[in-house]
Amino acid sequence: MSESKLVAYEVINRIAWVKFNRPEKRNCMSPALNAQMMDVLCELEFRDDVGVLVLSGEGDAWSAGMDLKEYFRETEAKGHGAVRAAQRMAYGWWERLRWYQKPTIAMVNGWCFGGGYGPLYACDLAIAAETATFGLSEINWGILPGGGATKVITDLVPMRDAMYHAMTGENIDGRKASEWRLVNEAVPLSQLRERVTEIANVLLKKNPVALKATKDVVRRVRDMTYDSAEDYLIRAQEAANSYDNDGRKEGLKQFIDDKTYKPGLNSYDVEKK
Ligand code: ACO
Repeated sequence: MSESKLVAYEVINRIAWVKFNRPEKRNCMSPALNAQMMDVLCELEFRDDVGVLVLSGEGDAWSAGMDLKEYFRETEAKGHGAVRAAQRMAYGWWERLRWYQKPTIAMVNGWCFGGGYGPLYACDLAIAAETATFGLSEINWGILPGGGATKVITDLVPMRDAMYHAMTGENIDGRKASEWRLVNEAVPLSQLRERVTEIANVLLKKNPVALKATKDVVRRVRDMTYDSAEDYLIRAQEAANSYDNDGRKEGLKQFIDDKTYKPGLNSYDVEKK
């Protein structure tokens, strides 16, 4: 386990398990934590021994959102420049995560509030404990859901639910978050790590260039017209081919010539060249 103070990580069997590591403060995000998280993401992103990144929290929280003392009050006391600098640091690592080279999974083990929706959305997939708690608690202390949280909830959840969630500040549990599609699925806490490992292992068997291209285009085409998307997807595939043109040919060969797998039922063997 390599550990800096506020973010911990370990790499096991090509899965990087990254944790918010401030359990005594329910893993809320201070400027210092945000800076360390960016460093950890940079350190892991292009390592050959990392195929998937999982983001979870130490203790009973995933993340209790922004640190109301250090991110808001203390930063505001330093002035406008400090506020913008703190925002850049937080938004910076969420953006880095949204476009991360490796597939990412949010493993939501507990509390997930407000600013926590930024990294939640940034992860490609999200699996929650049934007992996890999600809330846009901003309204409870007198602000709107900023830092992207409003965008996250309206992108992922139908309008009526998004509006209710944001206006009432009422929490939902992991099961409801799954019903709302804020996360992919919810499982008992005791099975959370096992289920996430299972999904990570599926991703580890895919062509990594195709995975990166796929996760990027799924995010990009949401804002495009059909025609723009159609054109963009041609370019994106051709760009992916410039990194790896042999993988897909091997995939075709193993199906058409070798008859060792069926793409409709499973993946080609990416280890075989
Ligand atoms: N900012 C600053 N400090 C926090 C935060 C936070 N977001 N969340 C928890 N802490 C601190 C508490 O102040 C407390 O510090 P102390 O030990 O020095 O008194 C410590 O973490 C433990 O917190 P408790 O409240 O004692 O823990 P408990 O398990 O009883 O409750 C809960 C957990 C429900 C998460 C509660 O801490 C809470 O409501 N936190 C704030 C959640 C929130 O609204 N976050 C902001 C969202 S808005 C945004 O992100 C922009």
